[in-house]
Amino acid sequence: MLGIGAIIGAGIFVLTGNAAAQYAGPAVVWSFVVAGLACAFAGLCYAEFASMIPIAGSAYTYSYATLGELIAWIIGWDLILEYLFGAATVAVGWSGYVVSFLNDLGITLPGALTSAPGTKLTLITPEVASLSHGQLTSGWKETSGGLLDTLNSIKVSPETLDHASGLFNLPAMLIVGAVTYLLVKGIKESAKFNNIIVYVKVAVILAFILFGISYINTVNWEPFIPANPNEFGHFDKAHPENGGFGHFGITGILRAAGVIFFAYIGFDAVSTAAQEAKNPQKDMPWGILGSLLICTIIYIAVGFVLTGIVHYDKLNVSAPIAVAIDSASGLAWLKYPIKIGAIAGLSSVVLVMLMGQPRVFFSMSKDGLLPAAFSKVHPKFKTPYIPTILCGVIAAIVAGALPIGLLGELVSIGTLLAFVLVCGGILVLRYKTPN
Ligand code: ALA
Repeated sequence: MLGIGAIIGAGIFVLTGNAAAQYAGPAVVWSFVVAGLACAFAGLCYAEFASMIPIAGSAYTYSYATLGELIAWIIGWDLILEYLFGAATVAVGWSGYVVSFLNDLGITLPGALTSAPGTKLTLITPEVASLSHGQLTSGWKETSGGLLDTLNSIKVSPETLDHASGLFNLPAMLIVGAVTYLLVKGIKESAKFNNIIVYVKVAVILAFILFGISYINTVNWEPFIPANPNEFGHFDKAHPENGGFGHFGITGILRAAGVIFFAYIGFDAVSTAAQEAKNPQKDMPWGILGSLLICTIIYIAVGFVLTGIVHYDKLNVSAPIAVAIDSASGLAWLKYPIKIGAIAGLSSVVLVMLMGQPRVFFSMSKDGLLPAAFSKVHPKFKTPYIPTILCGVIAAIVAGALPIGLLGELVSIGTLLAFVLVCGGILVLRYKTPN
């Protein structure tokens, strides 16, 4: 439950559409297979370590045991990029879904309070949205080249619309605050909240897959791997339709795999709870590999249904599943459940990531690499409350101040490094202490 709670989130609800539209087309399904395979190998290494060394520190602890204190110290700080920044990234995605859901209900929050500082915003009114035939939804949107092109194509002058500049992302900060409160209250309360949410988000995704299948138009899958005649040559910016490295074709599948790698991050967070597991030798491999397997199957199925319902070139949006639902009239009833499922689902990712980070600090403090306060357990709630509150405050500031694109890249970089070191650690063990 912790694994699925941490895995299914902004990756599938936000990034899949972008990866399909820009890099892989329907072959984003292959990207899910490639990224899933890479994660499976990392998952095997995590499972081996977590059952052997059931200590809360995850990759930090495993590096300490095999590669020494210096590497462990580096990876301990690197994990901040995965867990703390991961929580902040998904909090920003959560904010996007909440703002869009409130818009559907006719409530428009001030643009300045829902975006990173300095983000230029344009207010799309319901009238402009209806002129765009589904290309735009109402509410504050980032003033991008794509937005201006769309406005141009429907003959709406941007000057006639309201503009604003972002100050900070308040909803993202609020969800981090609420989750931190829950995490200080106790592991049982947090796990209970996570379990309920996992059922909700898996249910809405399964509903999308099962009910969406009958709306698949196989014409949308032709060609399944969009051609890229200029695959290994120079990318001609003036003619993006000619492809170029990473724009469709085989290189596009690999590039999309790099983007949606983010969707798999989280199975390793299970290992930070190793110290609180009843039977780590059994629970850890099952939790890590089981959650990864379930999510891989779900992701591949979503990839097929999503690109089967709508043509991939319409998916470069922040809520691709909602776009697919809008394009199939018989699925209209799923519109609100999907958004509610996404909002609930993203909050559990924030929860598990923010559960993982203080536990890494807890282990570092036990080893003397951080002050003793970091491993102090609350007398009543029995949680590492000092690092939990500290992580919550920092994650809230990061979520309020930085845009999702930058955050997502930092998280993927930090996580890849952690995976590399964990896999390297297993190799070292095979030679140094094979028994
Ligand atoms: N895998 C997590 C997500 O997609 C981080 O949100």
